[in-house]
Amino acid sequence: MNHPAMQGLALNVPAHVKHAKLIAWVADVAAMCKPDAVYWCDGSQAEYQHLCQRLVDGGTMQKLNPLKRPNSFLALSDPSDVARVEDRTYICSANKEDAGPTNNWVAPAEMRATLAPLFDGCMKGRTLYVVPFSMGPLGSPIAHIGIELSDSPYVAVNMKLMTRMGRAVYDVLGAEGDFVPCIHTVGAPLAAGQQDVAWPCNKTKYIVHYPETREIWSYGSGYGGNALLGKKCFALRIASIMGRDEGWLAEHMLILGVTNPQGRKYHVAAAFPSACGKTNFSMLVPPAGFEGWKVTTIGDDIAWIKPSADGRLRAINPEAGYFGVAPGTNMLTNPNCMRSLTKDTIFTNVALTDDGDVWWEGMEHDAPGKALPAHLIDWQGHDWTPEIAKQTGAKAAHPNSRFTVAATNNPALDSAWDDPKGVTIDAFIFGGRRSTTVPLVTEARNWTEGVYMAATMGSETTAAMAGGNGSVRRDPFAMLPFTGYNMSDYFQHWLDMGQKLAAKGAKLPKIYTANWFRKGEDGKFVWPGYGENMRVLKWMIERIDGSGQGHEHFSGISPRYQDLNWTGLNFSAEQFDIVTRMDKADWQQELALHTELFTQLAHHLPQALKDTKAAIEKRMAA
Ligand code: GTP
Ligand code: SPV
Ligand code: MN
Repeated sequence: MNHPAMQGLALNVPAHVKHAKLIAWVADVAAMCKPDAVYWCDGSQAEYQHLCQRLVDGGTMQKLNPLKRPNSFLALSDPSDVARVEDRTYICSANKEDAGPTNNWVAPAEMRATLAPLFDGCMKGRTLYVVPFSMGPLGSPIAHIGIELSDSPYVAVNMKLMTRMGRAVYDVLGAEGDFVPCIHTVGAPLAAGQQDVAWPCNKTKYIVHYPETREIWSYGSGYGGNALLGKKCFALRIASIMGRDEGWLAEHMLILGVTNPQGRKYHVAAAFPSACGKTNFSMLVPPAGFEGWKVTTIGDDIAWIKPSADGRLRAINPEAGYFGVAPGTNMLTNPNCMRSLTKDTIFTNVALTDDGDVWWEGMEHDAPGKALPAHLIDWQGHDWTPEIAKQTGAKAAHPNSRFTVAATNNPALDSAWDDPKGVTIDAFIFGGRRSTTVPLVTEARNWTEGVYMAATMGSETTAAMAGGNGSVRRDPFAMLPFTGYNMSDYFQHWLDMGQKLAAKGAKLPKIYTANWFRKGEDGKFVWPGYGENMRVLKWMIERIDGSGQGHEHFSGISPRYQDLNWTGLNFSAEQFDIVTRMDKADWQQELALHTELFTQLAHHLPQALKDTKAAIEKRMAA
C-alpha cells in the first residue's frame, strides 16, 4: 500500500497511543483517503473550543449571543443533508439471510469494490481527525470502545458532547484492546486552492456496516446518525450483532429512574421510534397530583442491557449526551430539556433570532398568546417572518433540527447515569405514533406476549428519516432501521433472553405498549402527553408492585378510567374512551398488517410468535 510517509504526510501519532494495530489502521486509512493532515483528538476542553472556532471561521457554525446562550453554536446543514438516509444504509454480512429482509444488503466484496474508488483521495484538502470514544462509562464491563476517523471537525465536536471522547480511551485500550473501527468522510475532497463550502457533503451516500469484521464505513453525509458513528451505526447496528453473539441487548431505548413518594426507585427502559418521544419521556416532570414522585434520566436514546449473575437485566446508556429533536420542545412540554440547552449547546438547522439566539416551531407554545418572532433567519439562511410562513408554509426550523448537549447539562440527570454497573430494569415500554387503533397503554401477560407486541408495533414515520411522511409502517421494537441482522433472529434472541433469565429464577421485567398519539375527529391529539404521561407510568409501577388494577382483553391488560389517577387534570371518561377504545374492525385490519409482517419475516420467524398471534385472533373472534 502507498503509505502516508511515502506521500510526505506526518501521522503525528501521540506518545500515549501504544496500539500498533490502531496505528497501522490509521496509516492505511490515511493512505487511502489522502488527507492534508492527521490530527489525534485528546478530548480536552481547549481542543473543543479550538475546533469550534475553526468551524466558525470556516462558516459551518456561528457563535450564538453569549448573553443569551453562552458557549453555544448554530450549524446550518446543506438542505439535502438533514436526516438519516435509510435507503442508503447497508448491512453487508457474508450471507444475505443474516441481514434479513428488512435491511439493504450487498455482498461485502462487492460493497468494498464500490466504496474503494469513492474513498480513494476523499479527504484531499482536509484534516483526518482521529476520534477515540467509549460507548458507556470508561472501563465498564458493559461498555465498548470505538475509534472514528472523520474528515469533519463538526463530527469531532459533536462526538465530544455525545460520547466519552478523548485520551483516557487509549488507557483502557492499551496495546491490544478491541475497538470498532469507524471511517467517515463527507465525500467532498478539495482541489489545491479550492474554497470549501459551509457544509460539505456528497449527493452519493453510503452508510455501510460489515457485521463479521464489525466495521463501519460512512460516505457523503455530515448529519446525525449518518456521521456520528458511535450512535446508530455502532451502538445499535453493530452492537445488536455483538449482543446476539454474546447474549445481551442493544436497544433504541431511553432509560429512566422513577421514585415513588415512599422513596422506592424503579428503572424503566422505553423504545419509541425516531422523533416519537424518548427524550421527552426520559426527562418527564410529574404534573400536579403527583407530589413526591420523581423522574430522573439515565439515557434518552440508546440502552445497552446485559444480564447479571442474579438473572436481572442491567442497563447503561452508552452515550454521554443528547442529539435531540428541537421542534416541539418548550418549557411546558420539556422544561428539563430547555434548561439543559441554556448553554454549551450545538444547534443544527434551527432558526436564528435577530438577537443571536435560536428559535424553532413549538418554542412559543409555552405561553398561550405569546407572539411569534417578527423576523428570523431560517434553517436555510433565508429571511423568515410570520407573514412569509403564513403564505408559503415555510418552517423556520427544519422538522428534524436538533440540539447536541452533554448529559451533564440535564438538571434531572440520574445519580447512577455514569455507574459502570448500570441500573436494574423493572419494565420495558414499546410505543408507536398511531393516530388510531392502538390504545393508550397495554400490559403483556407474559414475556412472549410482550415480545409479540414489540415485534408487531407500527408507527407513523417522522422527519428523523429522509422521506418520513407520516405513513404507518411496522417498526419492530422501534428497531426497524437499526437491527444489524435478521429481524426474526432478533425476535428469537429476545425470546431466548427471557428464557435464560427465567431459568435463573429471576423476576422478568414487565412489558408494556403505549401510544400517546391517538387523534380525535378534529385531527388533534386527544391525550395531553408529555408530563401527563406520568399517569400511565404510575399505573405501570403499581402493576409491578401488584396494587394496580386493570381489565383483560384480547391483546393484554389495560387500565379502566377509574384505574388511573386524574388529580390535577380535566380528562373525561369520554376522552379516555377515545384514547383507549379498541375497535374490532380496526383491529382486524391491524392483525392483517401483522400477517403481512410475518409473511415478510417468515424465514426463522419464531413459532412462539405465530402461536401468540393465533391466540389473539381466537380471543378476538370469541
Ligand atoms: P429521536 O431522537 O429521533 O430518537 O427521537 P425521540 O424519540 O427522542 O423523540 P423526542 O422526545 O425528541 O420527541 C419528538 C417529537 O415528539 C417532539 O416534537 C416532541 O414534542 C413530540 N412529543 C414527545 N412526547 C410527546 C407526547 O407525549 N405527546 C405528543 N403529542 N408529542 C410528543
Ligand atoms: C434517530 O433518528 O432515532 C435519532 C437521530 O436519534 S440520529 O442520530 O440522526 O439517528
Ligand atoms: Mn433515536
